[in-house]
Amino acid sequence: MDASTFDQASPRTATNPIFNDNRFKLGLFCHNASIMQMSTAPEKYVPTWENARALAGLCDRYGLEAIVSFAGWRGPMNDNPKHRAHREYETFTWCSAISAISTYPAVIATFHTQFTTPAFVAKATATIDHISGGRAGLNVVAGSSKTAFNQFGLGIEDHVTRYDHTEEFIDVMKRFWSSEKEFDHDGKFHKVVQGLSWPKPLQMPNPPLVNAGISDRGRAFACRHADIAFTHMRGSEDDWRTMIAGYKTTAEKEHKRQMQVWTHGYVVVGDTEKEASDYLRYYAEQHADKPWIDTWVAEIGEDAKTLRPEQMINMSRNWAAGGGYGLVGTPDMILDKIDRLSRAGLDGLMMTALEPLEMVDRFGSKVIPLMEQAGLRKPYRRQA
Ligand SMILES: Cc1cc2nc3c(=O)[nH]c(=O)nc-3n(C[C@H](O)[C@H](O)[C@H](O)COP(=O)(O)O)c2cc1C
Repeated sequence: MDASTFDQASPRTATNPIFNDNRFKLGLFCHNASIMQMSTAPEKYVPTWENARALAGLCDRYGLEAIVSFAGWRGPMNDNPKHRAHREYETFTWCSAISAISTYPAVIATFHTQFTTPAFVAKATATIDHISGGRAGLNVVAGSSKTAFNQFGLGIEDHVTRYDHTEEFIDVMKRFWSSEKEFDHDGKFHKVVQGLSWPKPLQMPNPPLVNAGISDRGRAFACRHADIAFTHMRGSEDDWRTMIAGYKTTAEKEHKRQMQVWTHGYVVVGDTEKEASDYLRYYAEQHADKPWIDTWVAEIGEDAKTLRPEQMINMSRNWAAGGGYGLVGTPDMILDKIDRLSRAGLDGLMMTALEPLEMVDRFGSKVIPLMEQAGLRKPYRRQA
């Protein structure tokens, strides 16, 4: 690579598929870790490098737009050090390797702003951006897990402070990305003397930012900074529509920017409805990992305390299934669900599955062609 290539930048819309013109985009979530399906079923995904490599290959084969990693640092299961909840690769290292072996998807590293510095994340992301040819992204997490903070000898900050910290982090990181001169910063959370970072990211104006926050403060942060709000679908289809329009209108009116809204969901594609629901019952009811679910629900906290008993039962079932929105059924049934999400204004979905290698392949070969026929996605031709 000569110096001109090292310094070359281009519009991110040209290299990063999350900006392609598919009406409904698709990605994979959490495959550096073993967190989503809280099930004891022996088939459950193990986040080995071989499995991650195969999943990256499926993204290239079917033209999935994104791979998003999960940052938890360890699972919530105290006094059970070998529990599968703890299995997790570090996200920047993992994304760097994924970006080298894949050709199409955006590769998105999740990180907590409190556990690192703007200087590190700016440079690590620029590195991944160069390795991937302009496909890097960041999922910015303000943090909510005490066990994760404990790994770093830190007490969890209160909610307002977490987001103030995150705002300042993003501002300083963007200066590392954009400033061609040395700069100083003397803020509440970060101090930088003669800050400078080369190379700059390839993607202009900067690699896309995703934010997974659901509080009012989290939403305000996402509208100001994120290219994708990564959130949960709650309530009725009208509630989805209002929530999604709320993000997009605030971003446009208050910050003069466009943003997408994505969610995550678990996928079970069956040849019949019965086959799909039997499989879901097998792993999420008969093999629900109850101690894991109870610990997780207690950790994610305050929210759960306000729920009625039947809502609590649904929430526990949902975490055993994989968390988020359920795409369970025949290919036609799944198409109908995606169509409803899309009509509510949703731009994309990150998939998880108990056995993602089999399920993503099934989704790619059976559901994606239906999405293409329905105009939700354009036919994808694998790059050479
Ligand atoms: C779709 C989604 C993905 C998330 N991914 C992570 C993650 O990888 N690591 C993490 O510590 N927290 C993750 N979170 C938690 C959020 O970062 C955040 O702490 C939580 O949603 C609370 O946000 P709030 O404080 O704005 O309500 C995720 C949340 C959502 C909704």
